[in-house]
Amino acid sequence: MAGRIPKSFIDDLINRSDIVEVIERRITLKRAGKNYQACCPFHNEKTPSFSVSPDKQFYYCFGCGATGNVVSFVMEYDGLEFVDAIEDLAHAQGLEVPREAASQQPQRQWQHDLYSLMGQTAQFYQQQLKQPKHRDRVVGYLKARGVSGEIARDYGLGFAPDEWHSLQALFGHDQSINKSLVDCGMLIEKDNNRYDRFRDRLMFPIRDRRGRVIAFGGRVIDKGEPKYLNSPETEIFHKGQELYGLYEMRQFQRKNDWALVVEGYMDVVALAQFGLRNAVATLGTATSSTHIQQLFRVCPKIIFCFDGDRAGRDAALRALNHALPLVRDNRDIRVMFLPDGEDPDTQVRQIGAEAFTEQALAAPSIFEFLLDYLRNQVDMNTFEGPGQLANLAKPFLALIQDPIHHERFLQQLALQVELSEERLKQLLVMPNDTKQAPEKETDSKSKSLPTSHASLPNISQLTPIRRAITLLLQRPTLVTEVPPCDWLRELNQPGNEILCEMIEILQTNPNITVGAIIEHWRGTSVQPHLVKLASEELLTPEVGQSQELADIMQRLNQAYKTQRFEQLQARSQRGPLSAEEKREYQSLLLELK
Ligand code: UTP
Ligand code: MN
Repeated sequence: MAGRIPKSFIDDLINRSDIVEVIERRITLKRAGKNYQACCPFHNEKTPSFSVSPDKQFYYCFGCGATGNVVSFVMEYDGLEFVDAIEDLAHAQGLEVPREAASQQPQRQWQHDLYSLMGQTAQFYQQQLKQPKHRDRVVGYLKARGVSGEIARDYGLGFAPDEWHSLQALFGHDQSINKSLVDCGMLIEKDNNRYDRFRDRLMFPIRDRRGRVIAFGGRVIDKGEPKYLNSPETEIFHKGQELYGLYEMRQFQRKNDWALVVEGYMDVVALAQFGLRNAVATLGTATSSTHIQQLFRVCPKIIFCFDGDRAGRDAALRALNHALPLVRDNRDIRVMFLPDGEDPDTQVRQIGAEAFTEQALAAPSIFEFLLDYLRNQVDMNTFEGPGQLANLAKPFLALIQDPIHHERFLQQLALQVELSEERLKQLLVMPNDTKQAPEKETDSKSKSLPTSHASLPNISQLTPIRRAITLLLQRPTLVTEVPPCDWLRELNQPGNEILCEMIEILQTNPNITVGAIIEHWRGTSVQPHLVKLASEELLTPEVGQSQELADIMQRLNQAYKTQRFEQLQARSQRGPLSAEEKREYQSLLLELK
């Protein structure tokens, strides 16, 4: 793995990037006084409540509470992971992203090469598709399956010729390139021989969220085994984490209300052909938490599409294990079953896009599906049936983390098993269960972005520490007025460590923006509070702010002295103080009088 990106680089990058410029490249902003406004790109609205502050270098939506700095915006809007967002911003500034361990440098370089080899290979396959000698057969096959040239282009479909050494002919016989082609799974190495993995196949490039080709799926054109051949796991391809079609879906339309999860490459392509450009496929693996989290980054509703047979229902149940912990108030997961023997490709051709969409949107929620599935496992007409149902449901209930959904599921279950909700809760949600409940999914995004203002502090009720933090966030240059305060770390008051860290950050980067400061708390529960404090109106006029900060620091210092005095007093009751402690005690005694 590549080394960490140095924090100082991230600070610098955020300071160099202009959030207004970055956001304006994606949505239209209108000037409104000191700030810029737009309709929020993260929820549907008609009047703008999304505001971008060029001074503070962050954005805030008064409607949905979405907030953050330039990095958060790129992550949220482009659906990128942190590192990818940093790479993207750096690229826009013409910067290379440094990595902490120097020894990792060659690997980065080498990874870039793998991406570039894959990209060139994909282009080569696309050209092959159009070659006169293949065109009739391959394009004919696509036509026969109803795939147009436009869709073939958007999904980058290609053809791997029926040759053993087409890639070596393309890239030459350079040893290190050949070795890289083996590493990215395009050449197979056997008995000192290297040959093309994909031969005589229709090629589906698999792209990561940044659009880089990282793997391929290849389908036989006539009959043959296996029907699909896939790239192996490589340094740049982890198939349990990738979704086929996600990049293409986002290219077609940035904002989608829902996404459909299907099984096959051809399903994605066929649905796109019918105008449903919001389908993605897992790559022959079960749906993972990573898949679901990635999708929730880019849309609020996920509809899983399964075969209607027994295997399909079991697959749905497996997906549910990962999905239940990730459902939140504004997220929706549904489960759609197709008639026996159909897949989305055949189904959409039969009933058309409109009916297909209608069925998808009317699909039962995962909670309805779950209850239904479990009810079918028991005989509700027997005496034991309802009790068995309750017991079957218990582990699933523990997976539902969202309190409202948890409660609602319990309600529904109570109705089914004919117990009062209260009683069922007593029976099922034993105190020790809360400890055994699965770990919360680490989903830093939702932690760092508050969805409601309710839990955040009111400015008029701020403690001195919060007030100091607010002042520094809003006017970072005030830090020059802060006297040395080593004692602050020991002060027993909530927030002291945050204030300490903030002072340190500001002292080392006097020109830092708020957007860059809050970056230091990415993924922690502290960040939303900081953003909230940063966007509050300061009631003190600017001329009084440095005095206010000085007063607060003095008050905190006073509190520390009292704390220390009490500590020494308590210490002295347990045994004699050292000479140094005595001196400290006496001077505190004088001061505090
Ligand atoms: P299907 O057999 O349902 O194929 O496999 P399909 O997508 O409907 O394709 P067509 O319509 O026959 O062309 C579903 C998915 O399972 C994986 C592939 O990801 C495929 O898209 N698979 C299937 C393989 O990896 N290898 C295989 O041999 C078959
Ligand atoms: Mn199919």
